Amino acid sequence: MKQIDVVLGMQWGDEGKGKVVDVLTPRYDAVARFQGGPNAGHTLIFDDKKFVLHTIPSGIFRPSTVNIIGNGVVIDPVILAGEILRLEEAGVDVRSKLLVSKRAHLILPTHRMLDAASEQAKGSSKIGSTLKGIGPTYMDKTGRNGLRVGDVLSDEFLSRYEALKQKHLGLLSGYDFEFDISEYEARWFDSIDVVRSLGLIESERVVNEMLDSGTRVLAEGAQGSMLDVDFGTYPFVTSSTTLCAGVCTGLGVAPHRIGEVYGIFKAYCTRVGSGPFPTELFDGDGERMRDIGLEYGSTTGRPRRCGWLDMVALKYAVQMNGTTRLIMMKGDVLNGFETLKVCTGYQVGGEVLDYFPFETNEPIEPIYVELAGWNADISDVRKYDDFPEAFKAYVEFIEEHTGVPVAIISVGPDREETVIR
Ligand code: GDP
Ligand code: IMO
Ligand code: MG
Repeated sequence: MKQIDVVLGMQWGDEGKGKVVDVLTPRYDAVARFQGGPNAGHTLIFDDKKFVLHTIPSGIFRPSTVNIIGNGVVIDPVILAGEILRLEEAGVDVRSKLLVSKRAHLILPTHRMLDAASEQAKGSSKIGSTLKGIGPTYMDKTGRNGLRVGDVLSDEFLSRYEALKQKHLGLLSGYDFEFDISEYEARWFDSIDVVRSLGLIESERVVNEMLDSGTRVLAEGAQGSMLDVDFGTYPFVTSSTTLCAGVCTGLGVAPHRIGEVYGIFKAYCTRVGSGPFPTELFDGDGERMRDIGLEYGSTTGRPRRCGWLDMVALKYAVQMNGTTRLIMMKGDVLNGFETLKVCTGYQVGGEVLDYFPFETNEPIEPIYVELAGWNADISDVRKYDDFPEAFKAYVEFIEEHTGVPVAIISVGPDREETVIR
């Protein structure tokens, strides 16, 4: 029986999933997103061109790959239609390769307003949401009020839209929040016409039949394990299951169909938005990571918080996902650091923890081991053996502590800047 392989983020998002999916796609016939929505920003760089994808899977640039937006995804028609247009302008044939689940939920203009109103009301304890309406849309999904992609084909679509909008306007009247959705709403309805013109499918049936017939499918995660709604740093998380378990609910595949689980991590850590980040740096080292790593949000442009690699969080993510292979990104950003720190434990109160605890709002003092830097430019390395010894020691330290092989190493943003072991 053919299984589905999975690529997902092991940290707080932006690990480089877009690049890795693009690199791995030639080994697959189809790529499928299973959760999240336009809060994601997945960057691909090749042939001196750069693209940032929000809703469309990162397999879209390879000529014969089918790209599926699964039922677990939430879709803003305006953003999806904009992405299709931009790709078509760049000469990418999107429509013949893109399929969308009828069960995926729609983000309404008023969902975006509810997201913004809720964040404003939270004041200094705000989540730092991307303001794309993600939380309110998933709330309507589990609250059984949502509108789904398949509903755009129904005669009752407009009346159901109006009913949900009125419900939202009622909720919004409880906030001290000014808004005007008229312009966005007009674009939203234009974009619904684009959605109607796409291949709308029962993706659970299509994906399972693909697997039955030996078609190779890769699932593309969004966000990261530490933003998972259950196991992340709640409440500073997103609203979906970002872990491997989300593949089952977000595509309709059974657990025993999960194959390789590729867990992507940066050689350091970043986080955008609020919430606990035990190894965060507030000094020149953190600034250097941000400057060299160009750590600014792909979706919102916000500066990303930077810090040392956190093995406690990484081991937790390995455990939750059943990661079979690790992929290390952005080691090149650490070129020239004299020494590197890696967090192997948390000091909380008087106690030393080697696991990720429930309570993350208490002060956590990271316990570090120091490793030698590699003092060399690794960007041009294409074979593992050619890496400096100190770099290999860093990789092997991670393998030893997680028990998982590091199968791919990325040394730059371009598709070509990749070392496959
Ligand atoms: P995603 O959301 O996981 O797809 O990641 P993002 O695209 O939001 O952020 C990753 C950023 O790092 C993008 O700007 C990529 O172009 C860039 N990037 C990916 N891999 C590497 C790498 O190995 N080295 C460097 N320097 N940049 C990388
Ligand atoms: P990709 O797929 C990094 C963060 C937001 C905020 C929290 C909740 O590019 O890795 P939401 O809009 O989901 O309600 O925001 O989650 N967040 C991300 N951070 N990468 C992402 O996606 C993210 N998607 C959401 O910054 O802290
Ligand atoms: Mg991103």
